[in-house]
Amino acid sequence: MKNIEFTDLKSQYAALKDRIAARMQAVLDHGQYIMGPEVKELEAQLAAYSGAKHCITVGSGTDALLIALMALDIQPGDEVITTPFTFAATAEMIVLRGAKPVFVDIEPDTCNINAAAIEARITERTRAIMPVSLYGQVADMDAINAIAARHGLAVIEDAAQSFGASYQGRKSGNLSTLGCTSFFPSKPLGCYGDGGAIFTSDDRLATACREIRVHGQSARYTHTRIGLGGRMDTLQCAIVLAKLERFEWELEQRRALGARYRQLLQNAPGVGALGLRADRDCVWGQFTVFVQDRAAVQAELAAQGIPTAVHYPRPLHRQPAYAALCCPDCCPESDRAGATVMSLPMSADLTPAQQDRVATALRAATARSPLKTERATAV
Ligand SMILES: Cc1ncc(COP(=O)(O)O)c(C=O)c1O
Repeated sequence: MKNIEFTDLKSQYAALKDRIAARMQAVLDHGQYIMGPEVKELEAQLAAYSGAKHCITVGSGTDALLIALMALDIQPGDEVITTPFTFAATAEMIVLRGAKPVFVDIEPDTCNINAAAIEARITERTRAIMPVSLYGQVADMDAINAIAARHGLAVIEDAAQSFGASYQGRKSGNLSTLGCTSFFPSKPLGCYGDGGAIFTSDDRLATACREIRVHGQSARYTHTRIGLGGRMDTLQCAIVLAKLERFEWELEQRRALGARYRQLLQNAPGVGALGLRADRDCVWGQFTVFVQDRAAVQAELAAQGIPTAVHYPRPLHRQPAYAALCCPDCCPESDRAGATVMSLPMSADLTPAQQDRVATALRAATARSPLKTERATAV
């Protein structure tokens, strides 16, 4: 039986081949590889899509986080509250600014930061809160924004996995002071290399982000502030522009496939479902479930040509580079999630037949290992 792709970029490319070729050819013809017209065109389209006043494309999701922190003038000694259950870049960029990431544990069911636990960690050094909209579902932004407003803090949404998702009718990325996303190829909206974007409706912050992205220049060779080389290539912008043409269809597919996975896995005693909130949707940047004896389950699926991944096996407070920033037992839910999460193949071109194969194999592989945690409610 043919192996299933974890992220099926080949089928996506086949569907968009002509549009991508035309878009890339236009760049090759005009030759403006850095800050060419496609950069502005993409920024205008993404700003309109998100509802934010400004979109600033940057070199990657990591650059987006760093530039957002720089625009807010986060300094050594400052503290930024975030989650340890995320990709390292979230906390890494805080540390790179010389600031301290203060880890707050996650909700056991959604795996997003537990907003109710944030206020207790605010000190006089806290400058910002950086929630992550993990797996494609937005964190509790209303509660987080309310806490931030009470304490005069900025909020940066790490929307690397959630571009296209909605929260109370508004788009992820446009829910706080600044929103940062990634166009890493496997993200809901990906390019063919590295890329990212920052969203804001604050004119002053938008100007700061634009200048920081080009070495702090406010005009050619006028370096008003310290910046970096953080531009997104024109060719990558052209690819995202081509992909935008079927992005809405892809999101609908992702939502439908997510719902179908949940239905297929319903009542499987060995499979726990991610918690979903009624006031927001999930675009399934990853389709993640909870399982016991994960390594054995992964091996059994791999033997049947079904790839899986773990996002993330070891929360940041357990990583050597970050362990000193948090007491070992401060984030028990992140530890529990790290031991049991497993992501299944997900992309817009996944077929129902492939999904049936994954679900059947997963049911069989987990049948003898019922979930031990309380979150093991029906999918
Ligand atoms: C939550 C999160 N933040 C930040 C990043 C970094 O994005 P990039 O790989 O584009 O630098 C990623 C992507 O892997 C991510 O998943």
